[in-house]
Amino acid sequence: MMKLLIFLSSVITVALATVQGIDVSHFQGSINWSSVRSSGVRWAYIKATEGTTFRDPNFSANYVGATNAGVIRGAYHFAHPDSSSGAAQANFFVDHGGGWSADGITLPGALDIEYAPSGNICYGLSASAMVAWIRDFSNTYHARTGRFPAIYTTTDWWRSCTGNASGFQNDNPLWIARYSTAIGTLPAGYTVASFWQYADSGPFPGDQDRWNGDLAGLQRMARGS
Ligand SMILES: *[C@@H]1O[C@H](CO)[C@@H](O)[C@H](O)[C@H]1NC(C)=O
Ligand SMILES: *[C@@H]1O[C@H](CO)[C@@H](O)[C@H](O)[C@H]1NC(C)=O
Ligand SMILES: *[C@@H]1O[C@H](CO)[C@@H](O)[C@H](O)[C@H]1NC(C)=O
Repeated sequence: MMKLLIFLSSVITVALATVQGIDVSHFQGSINWSSVRSSGVRWAYIKATEGTTFRDPNFSANYVGATNAGVIRGAYHFAHPDSSSGAAQANFFVDHGGGWSADGITLPGALDIEYAPSGNICYGLSASAMVAWIRDFSNTYHARTGRFPAIYTTTDWWRSCTGNASGFQNDNPLWIARYSTAIGTLPAGYTVASFWQYADSGPFPGDQDRWNGDLAGLQRMARGS
């Protein structure tokens, strides 16, 4: 009986293994990364760029701060698919902090593709144009860095604006936004989310996230192996 209980509890521990993360931008202002690290945060996505014109003024301070504190980190790009091509935006992102290297502390860059800040939530693009834009961004990022970017989105936006497209699950790790106690239905094609943004505030700076796995798995994601 005791052996069975120990076995069950280790199975449950494995199934529930998560690693605390955050995602931040200049909205959080100056961040004390050593304090973030000692409070238990092990990884972060840090905003680098938007479109082909905006660079987050705090990107470098955040990226260097996270690095020095021993926080595994990656950069993210806020997509404006109505203003220029996916290739142009992937290049701008890679040129301004969004690159990747197999150093074990760099997550693949993430494409933040979601509700337009104003007007039509799909930026006025048809579903097929949106899918083509995302592919263009993803393929360009891959050609520049050797990695496919993670995709940050919500299931609702993905259904509405890509026509519930599937086919990204084999290349692009999913970073799902869902502010709930359960992760819920994922975008078409995905059976697993790598990263989960589960709240937009909490004990840590910025949005609150979890890696779906243990630290060794997160390090493998960073290395790309
Ligand atoms: C963050 O950017 C703001 C300008 O938006 C600047 O005033 C501030 O000094 C920056 N902080 C750091 C830590 O770079
Ligand atoms: C950052 O937080 C740590 C406590 O975790 C503190 O010792 C340190 O002074 C803080 N640094 C700054 C620049 O506020
Ligand atoms: C989205 O696609 C999945 C299969 O990939 C399907 O199960 C689901 O019903 C679709 N949802 C909608 C709203 O079309």
